[in-house]
Amino acid sequence: MDGLPILLERNEGLASFSQIVVQYRLNDLLKDGIYMMYVANDWKDYEVIDTGGGEKLERWGEVLLRRPDPQIIWPLQQDTGLWRNVHGHYHRSSSGGGSWEMKKAIPERWTIQYDRLKFHIKPTSFKHTGLFPEQAANWRWMMDKIAGANRPIRVLNLFAYTGGATVAAASAGAEVVHVDAAKGMVQWAKENAALSGLAASPIRYITDDVFKFVQREKRRGNQYDAIIMDPPSYGRGPSGETWKLEESLYPFLASCMDIVSDQPLFMLINSYTTGISPTVLRNMLSMTMQHKYGGTISAGEIGLPITHSGLNLPCGILGRWES
Ligand SMILES: C[S@@+](CC[C@H](N)C(=O)[O-])C[C@H]1O[C@@H](n2cnc3c(N)ncnc32)[C@H](O)[C@@H]1O
Repeated sequence: MDGLPILLERNEGLASFSQIVVQYRLNDLLKDGIYMMYVANDWKDYEVIDTGGGEKLERWGEVLLRRPDPQIIWPLQQDTGLWRNVHGHYHRSSSGGGSWEMKKAIPERWTIQYDRLKFHIKPTSFKHTGLFPEQAANWRWMMDKIAGANRPIRVLNLFAYTGGATVAAASAGAEVVHVDAAKGMVQWAKENAALSGLAASPIRYITDDVFKFVQREKRRGNQYDAIIMDPPSYGRGPSGETWKLEESLYPFLASCMDIVSDQPLFMLINSYTTGISPTVLRNMLSMTMQHKYGGTISAGEIGLPITHSGLNLPCGILGRWES
């Protein structure tokens, strides 16, 4: 009945019984997991224009791309000519993988901007473009947390890819350590930081296996006020170390606890692994960060608005612990 005294106090004893019941039920739902979608709805250079038939139509700056998306199991509602007027269309192949069909000339790579952050975009052979735009919902949140902390913040970005979260955290004034197994991705992240005017910011780039790196940091006694991780379902470290989310996530999170500072600001876990519920992330953060430091947890889906339908496209899940 946590909410009850607060409500009575706020309403000076005049709350109706139904208001009390609603407040009580809401508190219960929030505690046990009512999930919201964190929608990245303030992009100017990026947009999901439409979805349907297993594909999404997106605008990346001036470039229109058509890509498969396994979540889109609904049909196209209205066939606008735009779908056929794209620059590039990624086709899945029946033997796995796929390839781009380029219908119009596009630059080898181009730039898009979110707030003061800038990113190089380039269609890759794996259908990706080097950026997950829905992550802007996390970038905004972490920039606000870091800027509002009013103290120096050390951030560890794990599975850091092309550095979306790295540039967001650095632009808000944090010192960042960026770790990814793929040399090419670390280089791309460096270029994104330079493009965003952060070439001279305190960012360390490490090409390593995340498990090995965290263990090494523990031996060195290095600590972080904020940890961000976006682990894949399956992954490989630079020396072939295997990462399997279902088996590796909890032990990895437990080992990260050894390098959390005495005054942690936040921990963020993001996942694109199908079948994992936001409750899994909430539970794991509760058993680790909340158990040791108290604080609050929120969890839910992360998504993007779809311009034509006004609906939201679910992209993945997140769990956030904050002090
Ligand atoms: C899903 S992507 C991360 C997306 C990114 N955080 C973003 O929001 O744009 C996963 C990344 O994890 C890296 N990775 C996979 N296994 C790893 C490991 N064992 N150690 C370090 N990085 C790993 C891959 O190289 C890849 O860049």
